[in-house]
Amino acid sequence: MQLERRLIGVRAAMRNLRADGGTVAFVPTMGALHEGHLSLVARAQEVADHVVASIFVNPTQFGEGEDLESYPRPEDEDRAKLENAGCDLLWAPTPDEVYPAGFSTSIRVSGVTEGLCGASRPGHFDGVAVVVAKLFNQIAPDYALFGEKDYQQLALIRRMTRDLDFDIEIIGVPTVREADSLALSSRNAYLTDDERSRAVALPIAMGEAAAAIIGGESVSFAIVAAKAKLFEAGFSTVDYIELRDAETLEPVETLESPARLLAAAKIGKTRLIDNIAVEPR
Ligand code: PAJ
Repeated sequence: MQLERRLIGVRAAMRNLRADGGTVAFVPTMGALHEGHLSLVARAQEVADHVVASIFVNPTQFGEGEDLESYPRPEDEDRAKLENAGCDLLWAPTPDEVYPAGFSTSIRVSGVTEGLCGASRPGHFDGVAVVVAKLFNQIAPDYALFGEKDYQQLALIRRMTRDLDFDIEIIGVPTVREADSLALSSRNAYLTDDERSRAVALPIAMGEAAAAIIGGESVSFAIVAAKAKLFEAGFSTVDYIELRDAETLEPVETLESPARLLAAAKIGKTRLIDNIAVEPR
């Protein structure tokens, strides 16, 4: 696997990779790779001839007081995992390569970024949009893969790709979970053993709320019950639990078409997010 840290190098590497006329699938990440990320790489290999991954802990998507400095950066392990997974090229730029002095451009995708994490993490999605747009221009892949784990992010990327005419097919990949159903996340590394055992209340409460809604329970009642279960399990804050349309992310009050239950909650110092499909019978 080739490693590039400079834009001039990655552009040359992309020309070489494309010399055989093969297609390219791209997996952007912030590193601290786990089986969730590797499932994107595996899917990328199924859809294209070449796989390119990026690792960049993007400062513009972290808010004040968030974990930019402490975000895990196990570079050697990450590189070995990508190499073993059959990735051809790793793009791991330095911050000054992505954000040159005087950088002044912003991208705001409205609609799908309103509410949910857009409300609890102001500016976060603007940071995601600008870095993903840059990565798309740098790599110019045929396909780009994103996890459903970050469902609102996936919706934003689909919208931005359509709006800005990126000639890239966006592929969403289902969430990979631990045996007890907690979604894999780089931030799970922050959990103490006690918090880890309590954290499973998040997917369990969401699964129960989804089943209740599908069974005809009122959406607001099911959500109140899920919140109560999270507090009971030791979560300190629930940023949101909401039912949204699976495509538009518009709020849903009664289940009539495919929807998504999305949640973000804090246990100790760690903020966890998750989401599941809620489809009418
Ligand atoms: P990061 O959190 O590292 O995630 C990289 C990709 O892995 C995202 O598409 C995310 O949805 C996916 N992913 C994370 N956990 C997953 C899981 N348990 N199952 C399946 N996929 C999972 O998301 C980002 O980085 C950044 O915002 C980025 C898009 C790279 C822009 O900076």
